[in-house]
Amino acid sequence: MDKTISNDIIYIGCDDNEITQFEGQYMLEDGMCYNSYVILDDKIAIMDTIDDRCGDRWLANLNEALNGRTPDYLIVQHMEPDHSSLVAETLKKYPNIKVVMSSAANKMLALYFSEVDFSANVKIVKEGDTLSLGKHTLQFATAPMVHWPEVIVTYDSQSKVLFSADGFGKFGVYDSEPDDWACEARRYYFNICGKYGAQVQALLKKASNFDIQTICPLHGPILKGEMLSEAIRLYTIWSAYDVESDGVFIAYCTMHGNTGKAAEALADILRQKGAKKVSISNLCEEDWAEGVEDAFKYGKLVLAAPTYDGGLFPKMVDFIHHLKIKNYQKRRVAFVENGSWAPQAVRIMREMFADFKDVEICETSATIRGALKNSDLVALNALADEILK
Ligand code: FEO
Repeated sequence: MDKTISNDIIYIGCDDNEITQFEGQYMLEDGMCYNSYVILDDKIAIMDTIDDRCGDRWLANLNEALNGRTPDYLIVQHMEPDHSSLVAETLKKYPNIKVVMSSAANKMLALYFSEVDFSANVKIVKEGDTLSLGKHTLQFATAPMVHWPEVIVTYDSQSKVLFSADGFGKFGVYDSEPDDWACEARRYYFNICGKYGAQVQALLKKASNFDIQTICPLHGPILKGEMLSEAIRLYTIWSAYDVESDGVFIAYCTMHGNTGKAAEALADILRQKGAKKVSISNLCEEDWAEGVEDAFKYGKLVLAAPTYDGGLFPKMVDFIHHLKIKNYQKRRVAFVENGSWAPQAVRIMREMFADFKDVEICETSATIRGALKNSDLVALNALADEILK
């Protein structure tokens, strides 16, 4: 597993194999990595700390990288605790260290470390400021809302490295397989940064002014070569809310299997009618965050849900809420409902989508009453025609 950056930029991050959910909500199959780096020069800079869940291992990695030297700077690019929870401990260990951060990050210090006085140590940087370490000169760029307001990214012109904070991160432990990157990076992007497409585009514009050969994010593998080009290509699509892949995503909820059968029947019809790709997910059993990812990946979305307590099945309410808060847009959407005596789900889904920006709602919908019957296929065919048109 290659974590080489250069002779004088050392990876000191850690894999957290124990964590099962990131931010208390995103499922992790094998854990999460928190990246951190040390730049060894005349002066030494630590690029972010990590989550204190792995504090002992990080301190050991730091000690090994320092090889007896004392760090001069701790660059805090992002104050979220998965990166900053060891800031006070680093200050305690190195009382003369300068903590380099944005003014917005400085205001957050007291929120997390109310007992610690950082005033003699903090060095505020703003857009375009530089910091010379010797051969390496660090240039700072603000990246507000990628993913919090205080975020900065750091460009090292000597090594052509962009330290990108949460940008270009992914869920999971550290790995460097290109085929693996996009899937978990996409799920991470839309669920963590999806709301902030405009801000990510602003960061991409700034980054285009730098000659970047390596991206060092705070999660996931270090990106170089083809992997780096592919990551920038995908970020350009994702941040513009453009369609990455021609296809239909069907997300359904089902109580006794009948709405699920209708969703599967619709998937078959769509395939028969020539849909390039049909992806389908049962939101009652599968990861809803992967559902959010697929909703953004494809250009067309079908939501199928039962009516429940005179309203919409709660897991579908929740899923639509997630799409809303992640700025879901530029897509065509259709609905399928089930209801044994008073179907309401389509009406409510239409109402929930009424204020979505730039979403085309299909006029056609399908109503299933209880079990799927042959007579229902007429409506599903009509819906398939409209979603594919
Ligand atoms: Fe990886 Fe926004 O924290």
